Amino acid sequence: MKSCGRRQTVLAVMLSLVIHLADAGDNGLLVEGAYERGARIYERCAACHALGMDRTGPRHCGLVGRRAGSIMGFPYSPAMRKSKIVWTEANLNRFLKSPLTIVPGTSMGYDGIKDDGERRDLIAYLREAARGSECQIHVPGTRQLH
Ligand code: HEC
Repeated sequence: MKSCGRRQTVLAVMLSLVIHLADAGDNGLLVEGAYERGARIYERCAACHALGMDRTGPRHCGLVGRRAGSIMGFPYSPAMRKSKIVWTEANLNRFLKSPLTIVPGTSMGYDGIKDDGERRDLIAYLREAARGSECQIHVPGTRQLH
């Protein structure tokens, strides 16, 4: 009976995985289009940012959900460090539309993305990319809030 119970647990875990994957698949078509468009838009950010490492700007793995200014060792502006923003998708949407309006004094020298659809696709990309291989290695200094 014991091993049967364990098998049930394994089955339950597998089932929830399948459901989870099916979930992703459901809007997969939409997300995929958004992801691919977002990846192209991200090329504008790649002048300064990368997913898995800090460059002129801080790394973006784990961005959705983390506190602004929280990558240890990255030389943020005081404005960003003190902003107390949590990068929810809604806050990213506001910031990316007009960085200087949302964080006056930020050292991010980028004027923002004015097109609502482009920002939506870019944020979908940032969210999904965090699950990709470039973000699977634990990067010291990142704090992932879930
Ligand atoms: C010219 C260089 C540059 C470009 C282009 C740029 N960034 Fe940045 N970004 C920075 C810098 C520098 C910071 C740190 C800002 C600060 O400390 O005030 C930053 C900070 C950020 C943050 C806050 C991260 C954190 O850890 O709190 C986000 C989010 C962000 N950038 C997203 C983007 C996205 C998305 C794009 C593309 C649309 C982009 N950036 C384009 C330089 C850039």
